[in-house]
Amino acid sequence: MNTLSSLKRNALIAMIAGFSLASPVVAQDVTEGEALYLNHCADCHGVAVDGNGSLANAMIMKPKNLRLLAQQNDGVFPMLTVIKRIDGRDPLVSHGSPMPVFGQYFEGDDTALKTASGQPVMTSRSIADLVAYLQEQQQ
Ligand code: HEC
Repeated sequence: MNTLSSLKRNALIAMIAGFSLASPVVAQDVTEGEALYLNHCADCHGVAVDGNGSLANAMIMKPKNLRLLAQQNDGVFPMLTVIKRIDGRDPLVSHGSPMPVFGQYFEGDDTALKTASGQPVMTSRSIADLVAYLQEQQQ
């Protein structure tokens, strides 16, 4: 094989690898994610995902505006952190955060998602759908 065609081949491989990193391993269902969000998160984080839920006024530690997650992380949606916050693996949640741990509610149907770095992370399908919805709400 001459140099030019092997260069082309490498470029093609890089392209394919790039595409597969950009897409999740399974299809995520944004509509399902929205329904889950409205049921489990909106009371605190707000129907508009801006942190102004109906319970927010009564809380000492305010819920966060979840539309700013990417903006506050150099423009990259912090997928791993978000998943860990929801399923309770984030130590912040188990140590005094007023936010409930949802791990048990969303268990089952294990699913792998890829983070921005390409690192796969295991989670449940429900959380995968929720994350897809939150990702769509980023400003
Ligand atoms: C009872 C109120 C309440 C509910 C319900 C709730 N949260 Fe929270 N959440 C909070 C509070 C308060 C904080 C901020 C304090 C903290 O970081 O622990 C927070 C923080 C977060 C953070 C971290 C944001 C950041 O900028 O670090 C994420 C992500 C999050 N919530 C997602 C969710 C999702 C998704 C749901 C639904 C599955 C949910 N929350 C349900 C109260 C709630």
